[in-house]
Amino acid sequence: MRKSASNGIVQNGHKLMRQPVCTSKIEQSPCAENTLNPIRRLVDQLVINPNPDKNLLRLSIGDPSVFGNFNPPPQVLKAVSDNLATTCYGYVPAHGLVSTREAIAKYYNTRSSPLTSSDIYVTSGCSDALRIVMDCLGSEKRNILLPRPGFSLYETVAGNRGIPIKFYDLDPENDWEINLNQLDSLIDENTAAILVTNPSNPCGSAFSVQHQLDILAVAEKHGLPIIADEIYKDMVFEGESKSFGELSENVPVLSCGGLAKRWLVPGWRVGWIIVHDRHNRLSEVRGGLTRLCQVIIGSNVLIQGAVPQILETVPQSFYDDTLKRLKNASEIVYSELKDCPQIRPFKPKGAMYMMVQIKIEEFEDITDDMVFVEKLITEQSVFPLPANIFGIPNYVRLVLTVPEDILREACQRIVEFCQHHSVRVPRKKAKLTAS
Ligand SMILES: Cc1ncc(COP(=O)(O)O)c(C=O)c1O
Repeated sequence: MRKSASNGIVQNGHKLMRQPVCTSKIEQSPCAENTLNPIRRLVDQLVINPNPDKNLLRLSIGDPSVFGNFNPPPQVLKAVSDNLATTCYGYVPAHGLVSTREAIAKYYNTRSSPLTSSDIYVTSGCSDALRIVMDCLGSEKRNILLPRPGFSLYETVAGNRGIPIKFYDLDPENDWEINLNQLDSLIDENTAAILVTNPSNPCGSAFSVQHQLDILAVAEKHGLPIIADEIYKDMVFEGESKSFGELSENVPVLSCGGLAKRWLVPGWRVGWIIVHDRHNRLSEVRGGLTRLCQVIIGSNVLIQGAVPQILETVPQSFYDDTLKRLKNASEIVYSELKDCPQIRPFKPKGAMYMMVQIKIEEFEDITDDMVFVEKLITEQSVFPLPANIFGIPNYVRLVLTVPEDILREACQRIVEFCQHHSVRVPRKKAKLTAS
């Protein structure tokens, strides 16, 4: 490189003119600006300073693979390694391999809601399924009803798309059932769909069949479809687990699911949309789902190609064992926390979470769930998620896929923490007198 005679430099024989350096900021798009993950927004605000004398016990991450105690069964691993030998390396239909769609249809087929491969759309995880369905039904003018407390991804997707949302409440005093009158009253002529989560993250609840039928009745009254987030389908500790699709006679249901939770492989990113539509009301929507799948040719072929073998070969004993262990974990936590006067654990019926209410009036210096979690981390190195993240104040969500000894230790530390901060202990006065 050498300086040229004029105002510039010569590089590889080309003359480059010197420009003043531009330092103005490049703007982000409204789409990027409005993409907010409420978990990140709140967790980033949290002051996380664990007590250096105690190991950090994380009860915050909804990923069953974190501790190595909930692993996929050997049949799942074998299905992928067998598929590796036979897989194609190319692009496959954007909404999934025919063999994969056939297998999912067969697996979830019921007499009341017969399914074929054309009712299935394979996606990149359940998150992608939810994104596609919300994108297909909602718009800037068409609102979607969401549960509160609810999984925060729904808000993220809606914010990114400019879809207006309205929240209906789940009632902790009533098994986290939906307040149906409120749900009914929130629906207007611009409502596109009701989204339900069953079993629930974060509540750990599972609706009774009667309640599911009552929800369907509200949707039917208004001619609305249901988006059913059923990623925890069949993860119910006792009794039956019915999908909204199999219970619905007249309401179109778009059920979103995937391999992440029941098969314990959240990182493998295979999900699906199952369309239940007995009166063919979703013919246009189906076209939209196909086109939206074509945007990224979603799910990776190696894993989706293994789905038929996974669904066929994993024995019932694996599912039963997972549920037994989750139920056992929930009983341990419940019995450890139930007698602590400052908090109130809610027994879960399914999924892999437990909600615990913080009785603010029982604490001397805890003003909300964020402060509770911050102090709990600082003093006891225990990290649950403040349920503010899910839209409900003064609860925390505990994850149950944690090894038993860690769960017990965490619960004991929580109880000690509550005792220490209780209004019943004149802590500060005692300190003042001493000094
Ligand atoms: C209720 C709910 N829906 C959807 C998802 C996302 O599932 P996936 O990992 O398959 O995208 C989760 C993950 O935690 C969830 O809890």
